[in-house]
Amino acid sequence: MSRPVLDVRDLKKIYGEGEATVHALAGVTLTVERGDYVAIMGSSGSGKSTLMNILGALDVPSTGTYLLDGVDVSKLADRQLALARNRLIGFIFQAFNLIPRTSAVANVELPLAYAGVKPRERRRRALEALDVVGLADRARHEPNQLSGGQQQRVAVARALVTEPALLLADEPTGNLDTRSTEDVLTVFDQLNAAGRTIVLITHEPEVGDRTKRLIRLVDGRIVHDVRQTPVLAGRHAQ
Ligand SMILES: Nc1ncnc2c1ncn2[C@@H]1O[C@H](COP(=O)(O)OP(=O)(O)O)[C@@H](O)[C@H]1O
Ligand SMILES: [Mg+2]
Repeated sequence: MSRPVLDVRDLKKIYGEGEATVHALAGVTLTVERGDYVAIMGSSGSGKSTLMNILGALDVPSTGTYLLDGVDVSKLADRQLALARNRLIGFIFQAFNLIPRTSAVANVELPLAYAGVKPRERRRRALEALDVVGLADRARHEPNQLSGGQQQRVAVARALVTEPALLLADEPTGNLDTRSTEDVLTVFDQLNAAGRTIVLITHEPEVGDRTKRLIRLVDGRIVHDVRQTPVLAGRHAQ
């Protein structure tokens, strides 16, 4: 089998010291293979954001090892870490994090500009990514001219455009109504069907029901890690 996208061994994260010590992660071991579609669920304070930040190479664990697409990220210096992050991970956040007063296509191009891709090629790839999320006809719209669901689909296009090994989403539907949630989840379903590896963090059961694999965190530990048959909510029979 090819190397996993994520290979995490006995991750621990401890905040504070003495009386105030918090074991935010108390030994998390996890492998995610290419093409998987994983939801990580847990109640508030269970360690989801801490885990997301470590998986995304935005933070480091107290102990444990973490290979991202075969690269031991704990051994990288800051600059190399930032490069690995840009090359290997596409982030999607709850609050969309688009740049205001900037067109959808310019937002999607941004990670390619950082990667040094030439303008003409950037534009072509950004338009292609917008097409993948069903927003080819909104390329010139600015964020405030788009619905929440459309803004999040622009953010998905931006995450995709660098062809990362992993799409990592923290509460991607947390700010969306039911209809927009459905639109965004449909995009994730399609991306995974096309072979993309997706890990999303959520506390919404209807999101957790959609993925191929469901992991539950309680007090910084994985208590369930199961394969499931996705519930294709909102897909109407022909
Ligand atoms: N920077 C921090 N300093 C101290 N404690 C923290 C910090 N970040 C998170 N925690 C604690 O770690 C635990 C897990 O937090 P978090 O990962 O944010 O959980 P979740 O995202 O599931 O709500 C909580 O008890 C939280 O209070
Ligand atoms: Mg959180």
